[in-house]
Amino acid sequence: MRVTLRVLSGPHIGRTFTFDQHDTFLIGRAETAHLCLPEDRFFSRHHCLLEIAPPRVFLRDLGSTNGTFVNGQRVHEAYLSSGDKIQGGQTVLAVEVTVDQPAPAYNQGYGRQDLQPTQPAIVMVECLNCGRREQAEASSPDERLTFLCEDCRNELRRKPQPIPGYEMIKILGRGGMGSVMLAREEKTGRAVAVKTLLPEVAVSDQAIKRFMREIDVAAALQHPHIVSFIDRGTYNGTIYLVTEFVAGMDAAKLADARGGRLPFQEVIQIVTQGLNALAFAHNKGYIHRDIKDQNILIQGQWPGYNAKLTDFGLAKSFTQTGMSGVTMAGDVAGTFAYMPPEQIRDFANVRPGSDIYAMGMTAYSLLTGAIALDISPHANVAETVKAIFDKPIVPIQRRAPEVPPQIAQAVERALAKDPAHRWATAEEMRQALLQSI
Ligand SMILES: Nc1ncnc2c1ncn2[C@@H]1O[C@H](COP(=O)(O)OP(=O)(O)O)[C@@H](O)[C@H]1O
Ligand SMILES: [Mg+2]
Repeated sequence: MRVTLRVLSGPHIGRTFTFDQHDTFLIGRAETAHLCLPEDRFFSRHHCLLEIAPPRVFLRDLGSTNGTFVNGQRVHEAYLSSGDKIQGGQTVLAVEVTVDQPAPAYNQGYGRQDLQPTQPAIVMVECLNCGRREQAEASSPDERLTFLCEDCRNELRRKPQPIPGYEMIKILGRGGMGSVMLAREEKTGRAVAVKTLLPEVAVSDQAIKRFMREIDVAAALQHPHIVSFIDRGTYNGTIYLVTEFVAGMDAAKLADARGGRLPFQEVIQIVTQGLNALAFAHNKGYIHRDIKDQNILIQGQWPGYNAKLTDFGLAKSFTQTGMSGVTMAGDVAGTFAYMPPEQIRDFANVRPGSDIYAMGMTAYSLLTGAIALDISPHANVAETVKAIFDKPIVPIQRRAPEVPPQIAQAVERALAKDPAHRWATAEEMRQALLQSI
């Protein structure tokens, strides 16, 4: 399925932007916006942000002065459909949702030009868990879609279903995409972690296959500071991933258990081990894309911590293959807090520098017990996104004066808004931290 944004009037008239997979699109006066309107005083620098997960399109106004209009109505956020028009100043953008359908037989020659854009098909999908039927958009009327209704998703998140071959022992945690359980692998008797993922929308078999392929690629990463991968599969609409069980706590829980933050010596040990894993993965061309305190699992006790990164590439694969629909709807300011500006602007195009930034955010939060952005804990998405783009971070020493200045500087350098001003590599940042202690 494809989303096209067509500029109907204004300085960019005639341009089109097409999206075949999940991405973001920024409109505003800032030179980094995808639709950049530097001369138009109507627009704020970062005016509004679209998130596209074909066939879904979600728009969020970023607290702009003059507002964003959809079909003539001022909106703060909105789901858009084919035919909707986004307006601001002289600029009008039309949203189109299409699928490529083979041209009728009498019209066919050879080659790709025989695909014609048409409207998506509306099909009935049945919840695999309770049988409830709902409508969904599909690439063709006979496309097979896997679907779990919202009630069943919530129920399964609370009480995950057993996966054949594994004896479930207890729930270790619940995250955005599903739950993690401690289990015993029946074949071997060893303890493993089983993560179940619940697609948020009806997904095609093709999308699930694509997701599994991406998981297999990330599973090849073997490193002492990366959680190792054991198995994966699907069962009753649930996707499950089996990994090594890490007996211990994730870094967020470890810090919470110690009053919210850790002494800088401990943070350096955890973060340098994480950077070691990142350096290894980046050299092989992998990006984690969801580095945060909760994704660093820690075995052992200080001073012998063994930190392991988990969920390598998982969040990216989940959204990119269309499992999550749009992720910016609802009250999710927290999920943005560690995202570098270039990732908000350009979901699909991420580089090692984005992981370095997120590792900087993680180090910051472990050192200070607070997030680096200069916003209130109750800030909404628009305020959070604006702070990520434009507001300087709160210096570490203002929140944790005991942190030595070299360490504070090394972490703050990872948090530069411009990736060119950050550490060039994870290894460089690791060396700087090791030398500052
Ligand atoms: N392999 C594992 N071994 C032990 N605990 C784990 C493992 N994977 C995840 N966990 C625990 O489950 C929690 C939830 O994980 P997850 O679903 O990835 O959510 P999130 O990363 O969004 O917090 C983690 O924070 C961690 O405490
Ligand atoms: Mg996780």
